[in-house]
Amino acid sequence: NFKIALCLAVFLFGSATLAEKTRYDNYKLVHLTPKTPLHVQLVSEWEEKTEFDVWTRVKTTEESVHVLLSPEAYVKYSVLFTIFKIPFEILENNMQKNFDEQERSMALSRNSRNIVGRYARYTEIQSFIDNLAATSPLVTSDIAGKTYEGRNIKVAIIKTATSQRKIMLDCGIHAREWITPATCVYFIDKLVNDYNSGNALARELLGYYEIHVIPVLNPDGYEYSHTNTRLWRKNRRPNPGSSCIGTDLNRNFGFKWLTGGSSTDPCSDGYAGPSADSELETKAFENYINKYSGQWDSYLTLHSYGKWWFTPYGYTTTLPADFTELNAKAQIGISGIKAYGDGNGWTSGSSARILYIGSGGSEDWTYGVAGIKYSYSLELRPGQSGIDASYGFTLPEDRAPKAGLETYGGIVTFLKAIKP
Ligand code: ARG
Ligand code: ZN
Repeated sequence: NFKIALCLAVFLFGSATLAEKTRYDNYKLVHLTPKTPLHVQLVSEWEEKTEFDVWTRVKTTEESVHVLLSPEAYVKYSVLFTIFKIPFEILENNMQKNFDEQERSMALSRNSRNIVGRYARYTEIQSFIDNLAATSPLVTSDIAGKTYEGRNIKVAIIKTATSQRKIMLDCGIHAREWITPATCVYFIDKLVNDYNSGNALARELLGYYEIHVIPVLNPDGYEYSHTNTRLWRKNRRPNPGSSCIGTDLNRNFGFKWLTGGSSTDPCSDGYAGPSADSELETKAFENYINKYSGQWDSYLTLHSYGKWWFTPYGYTTTLPADFTELNAKAQIGISGIKAYGDGNGWTSGSSARILYIGSGGSEDWTYGVAGIKYSYSLELRPGQSGIDASYGFTLPEDRAPKAGLETYGGIVTFLKAIKP
């Protein structure tokens, strides 16, 4: 009877939260191919509008833009694309259908107690770390800080008695990029298993490096993207004086803050926050890095999507002093992705040059302020084109093991290459 009552309660109260769920009925993901300077200029102007939701945009050749449009916006912009002769194709006709299908298949996998290779919830990821810390001598955990909604930002630390230098890997700074927390979890699991089974590379790396992993840097946003709005990007702290919630944590870091590619509008997905380092998550991360100042050899932050291994900077197209060396090591990382999985479509370079300018990013801060030379941001599956590109941020869960394995391969190969 208790069970029945519980089911009834979940049904009655659950439906209230269900009603709040943001729907994307007939939202279209459109691939634009601007051909002329005018096309490029038009896209930059439209990009300023919230109704024109650019998912990715390749800047190198200006030849490829993914944009999500509501059915109303689609009616309007498809006319404009036609008038201005901008070639376009529809990658996905109904985003909601895509989400519904994914939710159904995730409901099936959720019964499994093993979260490796799936889109686990925040509390499941916490338990995964706690459990490893309790059972594996390689793993300990720490808390970098708390979020606005009071969640812990947990760090999993994988180390041996001989480790000397530190590596930071984080995931989930952007809420909707679910493939990244799944990849951090996969990484922790595989590194521990490889070490335990005597794998030579895992033994060598953990003999020297201690690896700190934050699987969900933005837990409030991550949970909200599961419970309410699938495409949520920012954190969840309300903005005084505005009805819009959240700051883009990857525009909030205190290095060249608000110098381009970010917004002062709290309603924008690229809102930089009221001031540099204003957000608890940003501050928690910076404090954690500062606590071990001078001990870090590399910082890798995982995003999706596009299949890019980005060097700094994000805030300017001027290349960092170490660019040649950083890019060469990024290429070795990509060779590792190829060796362990599917490296097809991966390229490296500075994010501002390849993608777009965005200031206040975490890897600019670790490079420019914390002095961590090997600072990178990786954009995981899918690519901007080719297989699965039409899923964008909402890559189906069954791709998570592949993303996990190839990214693991890329990172361990990269780490071996920078290890003295
Ligand atoms: N796609 C991510 C973003 O828009 C990372 C881009 C590269 N990094 C940067 N700091 N702009 O935030
Ligand atoms: Zn991102």
